[in-house]
Amino acid sequence: MEVNVLSTELESGVPGDEFKEKFKKNHDITFCRRQRDKALPQYFASLETLLLTDRGASLELCERDSQNRLSLQIRATQNGTVRVSIDELQPLKQRYHVSDVLVGEMRYEPLRVHWKREDCVCLTWGLGQYQLLVSFSPFKLEISCDGEEIVTLNPENKLYFETLQDPTRSSSNSCQGDENQCGLWKETFRQFEDIKANGPSSVGMDLRLHGFNHTYGLPEHADTLVLKDTSVSEAYRLYNLDVFGYDINSRLGLYGSVPVLVAHKPERTAGVFWLNASETLVDVKYNSEPNENEDEPPGKKSKIAPQTDVRWISESGTIDCFILLGPTAAQMFSQYAQLTGYQALPPLFSLGYHQCRWNYEDEADVKAVDAGFDSHSIPYDVIWLDIEHTNGKRYFTWDSKLFPNPAELQRHLQTKNRKLVVISDPHIKIDPDWSFYCEAKDGGHFVKNREGTVYEGTCWPGESSYLDFSSSKTRSWYARQFSLSKYEGSTESLFVWNDMNEPSVFNGPEQTMPKDAVHFGGWEHRELHNLYGFYQHMATFEGLLTRSGGTERPFILSRSFFAGSQRLGAIWTGDNVATWEYLKISIPMLLSLSLTGIQFCGADVGGFVQDPDPELLVRWYQAGALQPFFRGHSAKVTKRREPWLFGVEVTSAIRSAVQDRYCLLPYWYTLFHQAHMSALPPIRPLWVEFPSDSSTFAVENQYMIGSALLVCPVTDPGVTEVRVLLPGSDELWYDTNTAEVHKGARTLDLPVTLNTVPVFQRGGTVVPRRAGCGSCTADLQQHPITLTVALDTKGNADGCVYLDDGHSFSYRDQMQFCLRRFSMRAGRLVSSRADDKGSFVSDDKVESVVILGLNSLKRKPKLKSGPAKTPVMFEFDVKRGVLTLTGLGLEIHKDWEIII
Ligand code: NOJ
Repeated sequence: MEVNVLSTELESGVPGDEFKEKFKKNHDITFCRRQRDKALPQYFASLETLLLTDRGASLELCERDSQNRLSLQIRATQNGTVRVSIDELQPLKQRYHVSDVLVGEMRYEPLRVHWKREDCVCLTWGLGQYQLLVSFSPFKLEISCDGEEIVTLNPENKLYFETLQDPTRSSSNSCQGDENQCGLWKETFRQFEDIKANGPSSVGMDLRLHGFNHTYGLPEHADTLVLKDTSVSEAYRLYNLDVFGYDINSRLGLYGSVPVLVAHKPERTAGVFWLNASETLVDVKYNSEPNENEDEPPGKKSKIAPQTDVRWISESGTIDCFILLGPTAAQMFSQYAQLTGYQALPPLFSLGYHQCRWNYEDEADVKAVDAGFDSHSIPYDVIWLDIEHTNGKRYFTWDSKLFPNPAELQRHLQTKNRKLVVISDPHIKIDPDWSFYCEAKDGGHFVKNREGTVYEGTCWPGESSYLDFSSSKTRSWYARQFSLSKYEGSTESLFVWNDMNEPSVFNGPEQTMPKDAVHFGGWEHRELHNLYGFYQHMATFEGLLTRSGGTERPFILSRSFFAGSQRLGAIWTGDNVATWEYLKISIPMLLSLSLTGIQFCGADVGGFVQDPDPELLVRWYQAGALQPFFRGHSAKVTKRREPWLFGVEVTSAIRSAVQDRYCLLPYWYTLFHQAHMSALPPIRPLWVEFPSDSSTFAVENQYMIGSALLVCPVTDPGVTEVRVLLPGSDELWYDTNTAEVHKGARTLDLPVTLNTVPVFQRGGTVVPRRAGCGSCTADLQQHPITLTVALDTKGNADGCVYLDDGHSFSYRDQMQFCLRRFSMRAGRLVSSRADDKGSFVSDDKVESVVILGLNSLKRKPKLKSGPAKTPVMFEFDVKRGVLTLTGLGLEIHKDWEIII
């Protein structure tokens, strides 16, 4: 019954209030109440237990009253990461440790005693630049750099660790009042009862970030880029939930979680990674108010040094906390990627435009939409099929009436070098007549309930069971289902979309799986809830990888995610709404994801729920074209909204936004290569590029694509002007629409029409583009490359381009890639190899070079390629300072030089 109410609501497109009440507020969360309300325990460290090994230090912590003993491990890496792990010293049984998220074994450095006193010991490692001061009573751990404090752990003694108890001997412990109030062994939320097999097991700790008053990250929330002070509001909740038409400006957990907080101040960017997969709450408290106690007159009051206090509270597991010390943002990104992996290099087609809808009705519909893109000259690469393409929501099957020839459909698309993506959700219809279901059941691949039978919940197909992706055996079994021989009607040009994988359970508590469901190894769902989607994504990745014998890069979009999901593909921000507010919030949401490693991300263009008006649709396409993952999608009951359905003006504005995206793909692809190799996010908040300019720290309506392009999408209706901050007193910014140059460190009021997309190229950069866009990414190769060289105040510029075959792993396994550097100095533009290992010979040619910001032309430009110097065709627009060189025909992988 419930499933009908829910699916009707979902399909109606209007989120109801009742719908929202199904989610917990902070005060409904008992482990959070226990930690916040209880008198806090006091831990002290016992010096005599300090043990230094060649992989770090260990120490015992003891709680004064209960005498609970914990084991503390401190480890550090050469690259500036400190890992602090706390577990029970002698647990009644093993506690859950997150596996599969960290990549490989860390190389830890030996710690040595720097100095020692009766009440503390100072440890150091490597060159001795960083110090770890361990205070014994009460226990604190302070990390500093050459005497300057960076982070203190447990500054306010909020270290909290509920040690496991024997249920038969526990007297419900210190719970005074009713059991549901404390929720030690059992609690009820609405009609849902949660029986806790291990009783109370929550953990928590506070830490202080010294000198920082800007923090970011902790996705996924529909909220501002700068984290809010939660002392007067809800804490940031990290609990993966299916929230249809979610509220904005909210700290409610959405579809995925990355427990990473990024802190920034002018001299340092630092990160905190709290590796725990159970429900987690994070409190942020800024303190940079003037010191009220001073006797000085107002206005003269000296400010106390800013600091931010962060408190992490998790329902279960252990404390495993990584402090990433930066000091630059680039170093912090790399420290984090060394732990959880780098962004997967997407196949080139997936950086093109994706056309999705719930649902494209049948094969004829798909073909018509596909043809529509061609007849309207709008490039696109992928068309998507939602749940209705299946036989009764049985994934891996096709509705035989609507999609009788799926392989032929894919071949039809493939002749135009286009792909098909189909949805594959984690819930499996309970159908004893369906071999897939039977195989999963017989193989023991489903999550169980606490009584040991297979768990059943409702979702799109009705009564369903849920695959237990936490088991590697189940992941391999699931992966095999994607083989071309098993998955009937699939071809190599079919790719996958994992949805509803928080997991969404229509009749479950907070529309998800009960925490007392049981996974492989006997672990309760509560321990690994936030990992469920990550594991499905991982299994699907394995499936597509194996399907090609390990040679082709998979593409999988997942709704749910965790730290490390960047290794597996793309994610999107779920069921947003077709209003201006949701368009606006998509920017900080995607920047937060990008800062925490999830760099191939996007939001449904146009808004999923409800119908956008044409102006909003245009503005959303323009914004989406400047975001990493670019897909139009809409809910079942919305009106059709293919880009050509709203009149010529709208079609033309959308066409030009999408075409510009395609022309810019050489730059995007180069940025993704950079993300893949060095973890720098393709889209970045301004402060990443301007770390000491505090005017950029809270900017969230504009951002950088790489280090060269500043973009400020229009996100308000009816505007004729937008205000753009152009940072940096030494910078020059070139309007890419007009080539007009502006000095930095100013705000510009830029006039806009419906066709204007405010994009500025930073002086000192070179941006590669294709001269045309074709009908899809495979067509791009036909168009030569154009370099736009934007000069800085000294007349210099640098940039690069990365090329490979766009789809396989030969760039990695056979070094089949080409990385070129372009450098402009003293009137010479030089193209040289940027990496000696790459051996990819591409047919691509640089046909033209546009130089922006040239005051005068002293001589006729010449080309030096080999020994000879030859004159080149050129046009110099003195007024705009633009020199255009054409007809160059320069092979991209060769060295050449242009002298002007
Ligand atoms: C929920 C997803 O967020 C949405 O994108 C999709 O269209 C529906 N499920 C139906 O599969």
